[in-house]
Amino acid sequence: MTQSPNPISLFHDWMAEAEKSEPNDPNAMSLATATKDGVPSVRMVLLKGVDERGFVFYTNLNSRKAGELAENSNVGLCLHWKSLRKQVRVEGAVERVSDEEADAYFQSRARVSRIGAWASRQSQEMEGRFELEKRVAEYTAKFGVGEIPRPDFWGGFLVRPRAIEFWSDQKFRLHDRIVYKMTDEGWQTTRLFP
Ligand SMILES: Cc1cc2nc3c(=O)[nH]c(=O)nc-3n(C[C@H](O)[C@H](O)[C@H](O)COP(=O)(O)O)c2cc1C
Repeated sequence: MTQSPNPISLFHDWMAEAEKSEPNDPNAMSLATATKDGVPSVRMVLLKGVDERGFVFYTNLNSRKAGELAENSNVGLCLHWKSLRKQVRVEGAVERVSDEEADAYFQSRARVSRIGAWASRQSQEMEGRFELEKRVAEYTAKFGVGEIPRPDFWGGFLVRPRAIEFWSDQKFRLHDRIVYKMTDEGWQTTRLFP
């Protein structure tokens, strides 16, 4: 693995490769959160932006994950591309993306997905599938052909990375691991035994 001085540009290179070889959702990543007492939970989310600030995903702000993020901002991310035999792990803390950034992303989504965001009370108990379908029909009628604003209970989180690890499969399980740690002097790299 070539040792790039900047993990974000290396990440972009790997994502570009994954976009060519993965059958679907190369931007799917597991997101680990924890309660204030440190009880963890993990689920997949889609990575919707990466730049020098960090990694952005969007979700319902009343969901379980958002509740955990409100009491403990520390997270872990993990992307694994089977087709490339590569993994990236990120550790950091979240902050909310601005309303402008969330609005811009929300408006880029398909109309049915925007209605879905209004209709879903994510992570709350539901009597049956019909309850969801009824809510989708209600919001479809409510918005008609007009604008669909971003719900105030839906937004984005930016994971500001403290550490990013790149793992690449090598022969005989002698895999490559490079860790980038954010320090006062910028990114410092180290190699780890596999
Ligand atoms: C491939 C994949 C991508 C997903 N992307 C998102 C996403 O971007 N945002 C989201 O809120 N949920 C997403 N989900 C659903 C979550 O995994 C999860 O079921 C949901 O967010 C509720 O999680 P919570 O109860 O821990 O808050 C995705 C699921 C899969 C399998």
